[in-house]
Amino acid sequence: MIHITRRERFNAAHRLFKPEYSDEKNLQVFGKCSNPNWHGHNYELFVTVSGEIDPETGFLINLKGLSKLIRERIIEKIDHKNINLEVEFMKGRMASTENLAIAIWEQLEKPILALGSKLHCIKVYESENNYVEYFG
Ligand code: NI
Repeated sequence: MIHITRRERFNAAHRLFKPEYSDEKNLQVFGKCSNPNWHGHNYELFVTVSGEIDPETGFLINLKGLSKLIRERIIEKIDHKNINLEVEFMKGRMASTENLAIAIWEQLEKPILALGSKLHCIKVYESENNYVEYFG
């Protein structure tokens, strides 16, 4: 068993808030991410897949194919978008990094299986110091 990871980046806006809370309470619970007029993050996404090496190619997975898949399923849908308002796969979920990692997993799990590998981990950096890992 071996792992390989592809990194992709995207920028997106969001707001963490509950509509039933006052702005003060939202600030208290969600901090700066509750800013009523949105704000952006430079996200980094690490997609790790696992499997066995193809003895013919020496590869676990064709990284070009994996990159294309991540771009089509995730990056084109989220880059320079508002996660709360415009990203179909985040509809109805709080726009937290945790939920983002889970939603990205759901988008990629089956297509990666179709490429002959298994999704192992989705890691999303919201900032340099904060990241989430999801293992399904
Ligand atoms: Ni934020």
